[in-house]
Amino acid sequence: MDTLDLPDNWFERVDNAPDEAFYQEPRLVQHIDTATIEALTEFYRSFIPPGSNVLDLMSSWISHLPTQLSLARVAGLGMNAVELETNPQLTEWCVQDLNTDPQLPYSAHSFDRITLTVSIQYLIKPLEVMASAYQALTPGGQICIAMSHRLFPTKAIAAFTQMPPQDRINLVCHYLNSAGFQDVDFIDRSPQNADPLWLVVGTA
Ligand SMILES: C[S@@+](CC[C@H](N)C(=O)[O-])C[C@H]1O[C@@H](n2cnc3c(N)ncnc32)[C@H](O)[C@@H]1O
Repeated sequence: MDTLDLPDNWFERVDNAPDEAFYQEPRLVQHIDTATIEALTEFYRSFIPPGSNVLDLMSSWISHLPTQLSLARVAGLGMNAVELETNPQLTEWCVQDLNTDPQLPYSAHSFDRITLTVSIQYLIKPLEVMASAYQALTPGGQICIAMSHRLFPTKAIAAFTQMPPQDRINLVCHYLNSAGFQDVDFIDRSPQNADPLWLVVGTA
């Protein structure tokens, strides 16, 4: 799958060196405000049923899942082993560069929910990743792409450094629609006086 009708230059980035170098050092930091994280965790209370198998894509040391929520499996995929092994919510993790290999290393229909938080702007082959995410979900399973306005400017694709928020949200809706997701919806859960929280959800 390709980025179809989208201009190639939307997917270019200033730093096109392998991501391995950029993510070599662990970043054990919050990438969005505490109030924004709390709003995301609150959203997950209704988005993720108890007992679910969950995949956290582009994961780090923190997955923002409600601590009281009992889950069967929480798999994390990201770029830095130290970040992932520090994450107390993951039951398993792996390092994979989705920009060199966008095919997820999971069997079809493995997960009930997929989360991807404040990282979609770093994917240069987003439609391939979203198509693989669709396959990894059970029929009726759901994905939530959480976005805000902070980013690593050299690693984000041009579409996210140059387009206004509504266009970026529309683009992510397009990613999900193109991958076959149904009922693609935008939800604004931005708290007051904190980083925004823009959610795009879709159903497999
Ligand atoms: C801004 S951090 C967000 C981390 C975490 N999702 C959170 O909510 O705090 C960006 C994350 O994207 C992951 N990432 C960036 N490029 C990636 C790639 N090419 N393949 C897989 N993961 C990647 C990094 O490992 C990093 O953890």
